[in-house]
Amino acid sequence: MKHETIEKNIVLLAVLTAVAISFGGLVEIVPLMNDKAATEPSPGLHVRTALETAGRDVYIREGCYGCHSQMIRTLAEEVLRYGPASQAGESVYDHPFQWGSKRTGPDLARVGGRYSDDWHRIHLTNPRDVVPESNMPGYPWLDKQGFDKGEVPAMMRALKRVGVPYSDADIAKADDDVAGKTKMDALIAFLQSLKLPPPPPPQPEPAKTAAADPTTAATGANGGAQ
Ligand code: HEC
Repeated sequence: MKHETIEKNIVLLAVLTAVAISFGGLVEIVPLMNDKAATEPSPGLHVRTALETAGRDVYIREGCYGCHSQMIRTLAEEVLRYGPASQAGESVYDHPFQWGSKRTGPDLARVGGRYSDDWHRIHLTNPRDVVPESNMPGYPWLDKQGFDKGEVPAMMRALKRVGVPYSDADIAKADDDVAGKTKMDALIAFLQSLKLPPPPPPQPEPAKTAAADPTTAATGANGGAQ
């Protein structure tokens, strides 16, 4: 087919453009569906506690994602500011994921441990008490709201259905775990849980004896000098 024919026929051009983009999309996306790095949890990724799960629900309810991302890109300036770039496997327990797309405020993917719980409580109640130039809204009502019985177990059951491995025991004690806690406590617990999964524990080395290992014997002979 001649280029001229395609370029002069708007319908044909639109159809072929759609075909080309769809094909490109399939080539990019389909292999990821089978890529373990994208579909399996990062080593050390923890399943959220009942309180953290409840806090994540508050984060979504209040629309924090409208101003905050949770996805550190691989660019040098992001890694220097926020920490190691986010990996897909860190988000496999997040339904829906909270990567966000707008940063009025900073990325929160590694905010856990950066501030104390008390700092968060003051900041979330009225951000200007700790950051005078902040334009983040305050959320003072969160400290006055608790959780209804059954509310948090229902969240966990729903997430379990889409693949988050909560145990039945976790769900059964969820009401007790959040008893007496406010939505503010839960949100702070969630924020403090946002951090890089710990490195996997070192694999135990196979036991060696000095006699059976020629490298040890050789280092012993010359005192380790090279
Ligand atoms: C209108 C936009 C906006 C919304 C909505 C918003 N924030 Fe912020 N947030 C900001 C800005 C701007 C800053 C930087 C100034 C500051 O620290 O207050 C910030 C800072 C933060 C920080 C400190 C991050 C750091 O690394 O210093 C945390 C934690 C935070 N926000 C949590 C939240 C949570 C949780 C919510 C939802 C309950 C939320 N924010 C909603 C704009 C927003």
